[in-house]
Amino acid sequence: MEPLVDSYGRRIKSMRISVTDKCNFRCTYCMPAEGLPWLKKAEILSYEELMRISRVAVSMGIEQIRLTGGEPLVRRDLPELVHQLHELEGLRSLSLTTNGILLPQQAKALAEAGLTRINVSLDTLLHEKFTQVTRRDQLDRVLEGLDALAAYPSIHPIKINAVAMRNFSEAEVLDFVRFARDKAYAMRWIEFMPLDADQIWRKEDILTGGEIKAIIEAAYGPLVPITSGDPSETARRYTFSDNIGEVGFINPVSEPFCAQCDRIRITADGQLRTCLFATEETDLRSVVRSDADDVELARVIRQAVWHKELKHYIGDKRFKRANRSMSMIGG
Ligand code: GTP
Ligand code: 5AD
Ligand code: SF4
Repeated sequence: MEPLVDSYGRRIKSMRISVTDKCNFRCTYCMPAEGLPWLKKAEILSYEELMRISRVAVSMGIEQIRLTGGEPLVRRDLPELVHQLHELEGLRSLSLTTNGILLPQQAKALAEAGLTRINVSLDTLLHEKFTQVTRRDQLDRVLEGLDALAAYPSIHPIKINAVAMRNFSEAEVLDFVRFARDKAYAMRWIEFMPLDADQIWRKEDILTGGEIKAIIEAAYGPLVPITSGDPSETARRYTFSDNIGEVGFINPVSEPFCAQCDRIRITADGQLRTCLFATEETDLRSVVRSDADDVELARVIRQAVWHKELKHYIGDKRFKRANRSMSMIGG
């Protein structure tokens, strides 16, 4: 089939699938304390429907699939979906972004199902701050979840995602560096984006990747860039002069990477989003629940992708908030 491209010539190779809008945390930068009105079961794509969309997408050139949420591990039988996706011919990478607390129960099944990469969200190593940001006193369970992965070396790399926020993250940058180097995790800081449901985001709260890099370099000396073959990667990655460990900076605000974006997203209720900041979506659920065949499904996907947004306008007068907040999109 013809490669999947947008009107700006970007080739689309990566699809992020949100498997649920529900979550067992309430991170302040994402969800309100009271949660959100959850989708009804009938509104959520079944695994069969997700597999059909994935099969068609892979036949159109999607090479990487990432499962997200909400919290993906609260969706029943997620390892079963991982297993079915793992069997898809043509898929080169299958990964998961999770808050980690269900890993002690599920790491084994995920590894056996064929999961090979995982990103775990962890914004602080301190109990009080953890409870403040996630509104749940569960730091120890996340750490246990990370420890549980040690038994499954086929899941590699293990990346830690910390949302960086001013007056919150600075003091722990070096603790995170030591933690990640010690455990061989790839550590990444993500600039805070205006996708939170409570609309607490303010420009002044952004702590840039450049600022964090400066804190690390003041202690460790110049970081050494890791050049990856993949220009569409979200993170600028570095190692240390002793070659031990990896840190990365996801800088969507201070250094937007939209020009190299190769991503599309499917929400839990089956809407195709061509940008994190999209204000419109394409309803794939109606297509898979109609009598349309795969050729028609492919046509709808191709047409939506063609209209992929040029970029986000964070910090610009033209910026419009997305029509959904982070937990409904999947990050
Ligand atoms: P890797 O393939 O492991 O590098 O994963 P990833 O960085 O693409 O995925 P992850 O789920 O770990 O996301 C990390 C952060 O990057 C999250 O805050 C995402 O919202 C953000 N992110 C991912 N893709 C995009 C994108 O296309 N645009 C923007 N602005 N942010 C993105
Ligand atoms: N800005 C930046 N990153 C965010 N994430 C959630 N909300 C935001 C936000 N407003 C992160 C999560 C997770 C990833 C999918 O997105 O912490 O690691
Ligand atoms: Fe849940 Fe992720 Fe939102 Fe935190 S950031 S509340 S883990 S969906």
